[in-house]
Amino acid sequence: MKRKLLATLLSVAMAATVFVGCGSQSADAPAADDAAASDDAATDDAAADDAASDDAASDDAAATGEGGLIGVAMPTKDLQRWNQDGNNMKSELEAAGYDVDLQFASNDIATQVSQIENMINNGCQVLVIASIDGDSLGTVLAQAKEKNIPVIAYDRLIMNSDAVSYYATFDNYLVGKTQGQYIVDQLDLDNQDGPFNMEIVTGDPGDNNVNFFYGGAMDVLQPYIDEGKLVVPSGQIAKEDVATANWATEIAQARFENILSSYYTDKDLDVVLASNDSTALGVANALASNYTGKYPILTGQDCDVASVKNIIDGKQSMSIFKDTRALAAQVVIMVESIMKGEEAPVNDTETYDNGTGIIPSYLCEPVFADANNYKELLIDSGYYTEDDLK
Ligand code: BGC
Repeated sequence: MKRKLLATLLSVAMAATVFVGCGSQSADAPAADDAAASDDAATDDAAADDAASDDAASDDAAATGEGGLIGVAMPTKDLQRWNQDGNNMKSELEAAGYDVDLQFASNDIATQVSQIENMINNGCQVLVIASIDGDSLGTVLAQAKEKNIPVIAYDRLIMNSDAVSYYATFDNYLVGKTQGQYIVDQLDLDNQDGPFNMEIVTGDPGDNNVNFFYGGAMDVLQPYIDEGKLVVPSGQIAKEDVATANWATEIAQARFENILSSYYTDKDLDVVLASNDSTALGVANALASNYTGKYPILTGQDCDVASVKNIIDGKQSMSIFKDTRALAAQVVIMVESIMKGEEAPVNDTETYDNGTGIIPSYLCEPVFADANNYKELLIDSGYYTEDDLK
């Protein structure tokens, strides 16, 4: 990417985004189920012969904005959201005339690195990457940069690499703040003294988003901890003490079982700040097996099917709805701009410094879902069917 061109076009692009909000695109985007192109097909499609040239950003593709091979690297199939993200993007990019090499890396960093290497060698013209560990892609992305292949960091920022052209994500700080504010509102902390017992579970330390999820929530909650209205009986408050490797449900569950049996045999747990649904699920499992007190408020993120079912059953209080259709649609717009040789629309040029400078970003807006609004948000919008949630 030519950063000079970026500087001159940025203001135009930012003005344009006023009319191109993520929300407005989601209505046209394919529903999660419709978008579920077969995973297996992804690798084969990738080997499109005409795209196999080393010199990735071929002039033809750049001139017409049509055709070409796009590499999409996702962290894992284990979490529902990455399947949806990957498949939504694949079907949208294909509809826009591109071939797509979609890969999932089983949360294994070496696998992701070699998948990206293959994408570069197979002639991908743009790389869209949701990293497993934001710090582990520097070397392979240096190869992309050498071949002038633009890189879009998808959802998670890729750190300490100057090969990253753009970042497309949800407003991660707002995700954390919304979770924190939900807790403040539910406990009526501005009018009640408590003290209320709280525990905290966040995600993988290698995921830059954790800084924003945890940071946003704690910016809201810390004043109430300082006032003594919220207390954390386990004493586990620091980010490194509440992290969950790989965002794994079992790891969150094991840690929480420990907390419950050590600190909550004789008192109620009032609230759990869980940064996402996979960790909230671990908490809910631990509560089911190791706790008999009053059921706590429990936050989450992603609106995974299992968690929405828990919301309906009263086992999770809320989740953050990040419409993956909207993010995928935004990335398709980015890819198309890049392939036409234009700057992509962004709406944030301040927040996300990956260690080499600010990465121009497009932030989609997250909203919270709970038992009161999930039907409107998730079913009426076509994200899920009623049957999905039975
Ligand atoms: C994403 C979350 C997701 C988590 C675990 C984060 O980077 O932003 O939506 O729940 O990873 O996969």
